[in-house]
Amino acid sequence: MDWGMKNRLSKIINPENRRCVMLAVDHGYFLGPTDGLRVPRRTIRPLLPYADSLMVTRGVLRTSVSPDINTPIVLRASGGTSIIGEDLSNESIVTSIEEAIKLNVVCLALSIFIGSKYEHQSLHNLSRLVDMGEKYGIPVLAVTAVGKEMSRDSRYLGLACRIAAEIGAHVVKTYYCQNFEEVVEGCPVPVIIAGGKKLTHESEALQLAYDALHDGASGVDMGRNIWQSSHPVSMIKAVRSIVHSNANVQEAHEEFMKNSLIETRKEDAIESK
Ligand code: 5RP
Repeated sequence: MDWGMKNRLSKIINPENRRCVMLAVDHGYFLGPTDGLRVPRRTIRPLLPYADSLMVTRGVLRTSVSPDINTPIVLRASGGTSIIGEDLSNESIVTSIEEAIKLNVVCLALSIFIGSKYEHQSLHNLSRLVDMGEKYGIPVLAVTAVGKEMSRDSRYLGLACRIAAEIGAHVVKTYYCQNFEEVVEGCPVPVIIAGGKKLTHESEALQLAYDALHDGASGVDMGRNIWQSSHPVSMIKAVRSIVHSNANVQEAHEEFMKNSLIETRKEDAIESK
């Protein structure tokens, strides 16, 4: 692996503890304006200081993120489908490598759809993106998207992660499942987890992060369970404490509760001005 590739990877996964907190805000690329992310700038700005990296599309990056930031950017490079379209798996690469370089991104991200109608196309997209990234030292994060008809078990997710790594992904994002350690064991590159749909209680999302790390994940690429929380800043801080400070779920949740009170007071103070 060349110096540039290693350097960029070290911006995503902290080389000291091999862990990462990636903040996912790319959902609009097929979901449109989503609760908690209707105005991307408003969602992203307060959370940025606590994210190791930001996963975003080029459109939101250009319009809603200041170019002055130091947070490394993971660029969502696949798309071309929508929640009301025919088949979400029918994605293409929607960004060029030149654009990624101009945007100074540290990683490219793309979804693969194992077992779907467009499985082959999505894997071909991955191989092309890896080739482009390898040429310029930019790593690729493969996202194992799961269709409604697929079961999120270790057999399926293990298959998807391994295929992504075999094709050349440098990091893989997947979902947590029972026997997750088998998914990690079978995947020769770092595995990080998505949070998935907003869980009812923050403690459930913290438990998910804790369990995934315990079972070998290198970190989280979390979106909705952070920015759809009643207290997003407190939530990302609590997730950080699990990933980077080895907090247990109870400690992280106590931190969440304590910071939530402060966050509410600050919001009240702004409103009363
Ligand atoms: C969408 C994505 C999201 O970035 C990913 O699902 C993480 O977000 P969340 O924690 O909300 O699931 O890749 O395709």
